[in-house]
Amino acid sequence: MTAADDRYPYPVAQIGIIGGGQLGRMLVAAAKRIGCTCTVLDPYPDSPAGQLSGSQIVGTYHDPDALGRLVRACDVTTFDIEDIDTDCLGELLQAGHRIFPCPGLLADIQDKLTQKHVLVEADIPTADFEAALEPDPAQFARFGFPLVQKACRGGYDGRGVQIMRSDADFEHHLPVPSLVERFVPAQKELAVMVARGQDGAIRVYPPVEMCMRPDENILDILLAPARVDPAIADAARGLAVRTVEALMGVGIFGVEMFLTDAGELLVNEVAPRTHNSGHYTIEACVTDQFEQHLRAITGLPLGETDLLRPAAMLNLLGEPGFKGRPVIRGLRAALAIPGVSVHLYGKAQTRAHRKMGHVTVLDADIEQARAKAEQVRGLIRIEGEERL
Ligand SMILES: Nc1ncnc2c1ncn2[C@@H]1O[C@H](COP(=O)(O)OP(=O)(O)OP(=O)(O)O)[C@@H](O)[C@H]1O
Ligand SMILES: [Mg+2]
Repeated sequence: MTAADDRYPYPVAQIGIIGGGQLGRMLVAAAKRIGCTCTVLDPYPDSPAGQLSGSQIVGTYHDPDALGRLVRACDVTTFDIEDIDTDCLGELLQAGHRIFPCPGLLADIQDKLTQKHVLVEADIPTADFEAALEPDPAQFARFGFPLVQKACRGGYDGRGVQIMRSDADFEHHLPVPSLVERFVPAQKELAVMVARGQDGAIRVYPPVEMCMRPDENILDILLAPARVDPAIADAARGLAVRTVEALMGVGIFGVEMFLTDAGELLVNEVAPRTHNSGHYTIEACVTDQFEQHLRAITGLPLGETDLLRPAAMLNLLGEPGFKGRPVIRGLRAALAIPGVSVHLYGKAQTRAHRKMGHVTVLDADIEQARAKAEQVRGLIRIEGEERL
């Protein structure tokens, strides 16, 4: 690029975002900061991202007309969810529109079985598995317990994942096309965010540690950086970079992995988008994951990923027993704690365990950050106007 090319009429780019949830909302916020405008596609009017962008197409992620209108109206299109009609996106790509990450990659990732095959072909270490397209107790028994059944499609936040310890657990199986995977005894679950530019430039964030809620397969508290040996942290970064390079992905990717009891790293899954485990980067890193993704998909130089301060992050989930318009308790008390930032997603309705917001806590000491995050968990409650 010459100095003469380094000239952008405002807006710098019009970004199409398929999916209007919290990830899209935070992407819109970053886009506005760097002079981009956004249009969001979501089935629900006034979606969290649509509220911020001021421009939304109401339609499903499988509606060719709505997808076409979005992609044609924007300079570049991306997504905050995976459940999208990739055939339709592929046709739009063929017609010359810019879509990142590319629809073929999304198609590979959105089916967990295909994703596992792609990882294995790229020589990425991952737990052993086999297809279980029609779940059958004899096959599960032959594969051996403990195992993890995963729905090929449509799972998120631990829905679509069943851990089974014995034959008796088949009773709780998911009656959908699936894979069965070896249960991994893990000392920690790590995640590494990697950004890759259209020119192949790579930026990688520090590995973070995801502390899961026992028995719920859902994130409890995230710690950045992960409390692991520097050699393990380096290996995790290397593995994440190798994974994203193998996929030839453009944009930001969340690579989830297990650090096994034996000290081995296995990739669990790849998210072809901004990721819950990267929210802490908004306050804690030089360039946050949302801006980084935008830089990658618009062809701008990638930013530095250094961690400025240790951080703990906690999701704010809807309290069971309530629905309707959210009522936030404990906000004042939480914000009185030094280093606490609260993000609320603008969802009009709460439900049990729905992600309604998150909190990031910065502290020079990671254990202090964690202690404060636990304190915040005891303070903030997202209730609803209607009691069930
Ligand atoms: N093979 C495995 N061995 C042990 N635990 C596992 C295994 N696979 C998944 N889990 C547990 O279940 C959780 C959710 O699994 P996974 O990440 O594959 O599903 P998901 O529904 O896509 O989750 P999310 O949207 O929260 O990332 C993992 O974070 C981990 O705690
Ligand atoms: Mg996961």
